[in-house]
Amino acid sequence: MSLTLSSTATITGTNVQIPRLGFGVWQIAAANCAAACAHALNAGYRHIDTARLYRNEEQVGTAVRESGLSRADVFVTTKQGVRGDTPELTYQLALESVEKAAGTAPGAYVDLFLVHIPDVRGGADGRKEVWLALERLFREGRARAIGVSNYGVQHIEEMKTYASVWPPHVNQIELHPWWQQRELVAYCEEQGIVVQAYSPLATGTKLNDPVVGEMARSLSKSPAQVLIRYGLQRGWVVLPKSENPERIRQNADVFDFELGQDDLRVLDGLDGLDGQY
Ligand SMILES: NC(=O)c1ccc[n+]([C@@H]2O[C@H](COP(=O)([O-])OP(=O)(O)OC[C@H]3O[C@@H](n4cnc5c(N)ncnc54)[C@H](OP(=O)(O)O)[C@@H]3O)[C@@H](O)[C@H]2O)c1
Repeated sequence: MSLTLSSTATITGTNVQIPRLGFGVWQIAAANCAAACAHALNAGYRHIDTARLYRNEEQVGTAVRESGLSRADVFVTTKQGVRGDTPELTYQLALESVEKAAGTAPGAYVDLFLVHIPDVRGGADGRKEVWLALERLFREGRARAIGVSNYGVQHIEEMKTYASVWPPHVNQIELHPWWQQRELVAYCEEQGIVVQAYSPLATGTKLNDPVVGEMARSLSKSPAQVLIRYGLQRGWVVLPKSENPERIRQNADVFDFELGQDDLRVLDGLDGLDGQY
């Protein structure tokens, strides 16, 4: 079936649907974040990706509430990579994020809550403690789905020793043509873990790449649109960031063209060709 702005992925074992295109808000200052999210929601995005670390969860929540859209129609993700001094305090930190991103009304929820990084203080103990806090939010209905970010196969396998919810619903990892993490993606797909691609534009560092530029010209699209489309056609949930209204709109305008098999092969071939990645 062809992709549209309303296309979703289903979280295995649940009825939760994740919009395949999301709007990332890392590095958007709190003062600009509600306006950027409003532009994104106006442009048709229905999925916003924030984190405790980004210091803009509250502005995401405000933008969703002020958008006039029903809460159920917008998918909100947040993340936590730190623990408190006790398991209860770790849970309270996570609950604080839910209340910032979704409001303080009883039963307010985020759609997805991720352990942000495996490098939580205390290593395996820290990862376990944050995960158990997210499982509690999941049981309480304050997070409709829970997952991880930047986890390798070994971290996901380690979770089997302590997780009641396994596999994690999502693994959010850096993915673009220059960094394809194929073994990890294949493992997630085998386990039924939804793969989210962060930094799909390589954080803006590869938009002048000649191969992508030539492909974009031949398709009458921009390099950013080609890269977003690549991630979508690879089956990932794709999370571009922009705080420019025109580029926010442009990044959602990726459903009127398709990369052919030859284009996909060329982009696949860029993997590992850049020393930076
Ligand atoms: N889980 C994690 O650890 C993690 C880590 C990194 C990122 N993420 C998530 O992934 C999201 C996206 O990743 P990212 O922020 O690294 O960057 P990205 O989406 O790969 O690239 C964003 C950069 O590209 C520019 N840009 C965006 N659209 C453009 C266009 N159409 N034409 C030209 N330039 C364009 C942006 O500038 P302007 O804003 O000026 O347009 C910005 O400099 C983050 O916001 C975050 O939600 C998660």
